Amino acid sequence: MIIEPRMRGFICLTAHPGGAAQNVKQQIEYVKSKGPINGAKKVLVIGASTGFGLSSRITSAFGSDAATIGVFFEKPPVEGKTASPGWYNSAAFEEEAHKAGLYAKSINGDAFSKEVKQQTMDLIKADLGQVDLVIYSLASPVRQHPETGVLHRSVLKPIGGVFSNKTVDFHTGKVSEVTIQPAEGDDIENTVTVMGGEDWAMWMDALKDANLLAPGAVTVAYSYIGPALTEPVYRKGTIGRAKDHLEATAFEITDNLKDIGGKAYVSVNKALVTQASSAIPVIPLYISLLYKIMKEEGVHEGTIEQMQRLYSERLFTGGEVPVDEKGRIRIDDWEMRDDIQEKVAALWEKATTENLSEIGDLEGYRKDFYNLFGFDYKDVDYKADTNEMVGVDSIK
Ligand code: NAD
Ligand code: NA
Repeated sequence: MIIEPRMRGFICLTAHPGGAAQNVKQQIEYVKSKGPINGAKKVLVIGASTGFGLSSRITSAFGSDAATIGVFFEKPPVEGKTASPGWYNSAAFEEEAHKAGLYAKSINGDAFSKEVKQQTMDLIKADLGQVDLVIYSLASPVRQHPETGVLHRSVLKPIGGVFSNKTVDFHTGKVSEVTIQPAEGDDIENTVTVMGGEDWAMWMDALKDANLLAPGAVTVAYSYIGPALTEPVYRKGTIGRAKDHLEATAFEITDNLKDIGGKAYVSVNKALVTQASSAIPVIPLYISLLYKIMKEEGVHEGTIEQMQRLYSERLFTGGEVPVDEKGRIRIDDWEMRDDIQEKVAALWEKATTENLSEIGDLEGYRKDFYNLFGFDYKDVDYKADTNEMVGVDSIK
């Protein structure tokens, strides 16, 4: 079929397998260009198909020759209907990994469920024996609790009061004022249940109890802080409560891994265009201004640059892992630099529909967004008849 982007709101309903392959190949090339990393060799990535998780998997495989098991929740293709982007990314990743002689298998299903945890553990046991690194990179709007069966929905709301600020519709470039009503009822609790640390701890408990963690095993989950500008809707909003919980969970997990000398970290990453972040009001405008400044300053990074730096300059230097006063790894250091934030704040005041394409990097935002779905890659012929029925090697 001819595959074109079909937009509905913040979502693209189609994905291009050729573009996804291009995305994966470019990330692999980047990691290889930076040289080998003396990192973990047997790696489980939960949330492995897009965003930071995919880049983590690629960095492990092509930076450290690691065997990887990836867990994700993606839609396979059906005749005449494309798969979700993470499916095609994973198909491309496995193909490249297998070509390079690397072990790579994937599990497609709900990582919050007991069944998928068990399936993953069976696979580790059969094929790898144990893992020495577990990356936890889920981003989901819902979680069915494995004990109660209750379906929890996360929300992106401020806490305590209405929040109004600027936002942009990055498709049209229209800057407008958005007003978000504060959390009410069970909003905070639900968001913490979905995006907090409970599921991460459940994974680590289950892996440890089954003796599937190697001595000294490390686990890393991803968080975000961001500037004062976005605080009401992010770090001091409902999602921030979930991140507080995730960060606190790292200490619990570390305690629990003491006897095997293991450790849990949270890494605070940079704001980037992903499917998850595009849906948060205010953030796309912030990102488009941030990209502009960071590119000007020569410190812009995408998910692969971030993960390559996380591994090579934080996790696997051979020395101690540098952390902040709250025990967190910081790779948002360049985003949060005072000079960068001052410039973004000044642009924020000025930003209008008329000037945004000039003072902000709307074009870069859009390109990154289309790239997520495999569109807008130079070397892909989007007019060509393309086979949508691409399979992930290890998934029958
Ligand atoms: P993403 O949407 O690109 O990736 C989410 C991954 O989770 C995908 O692999 C998806 O298949 C998987 N997933 C979702 N629900 C699942 C389920 N029920 N079962 C199995 N897999 C499931 O998201 P991302 O932006 O890479 O986010 C990953 C983490 O990084 C999140 O914790 C996020 O908060 C954090 N983070 C994001 C940003 C940002 O700007 N995007 C910045 C800092 C930190
Ligand atoms: Na991810």
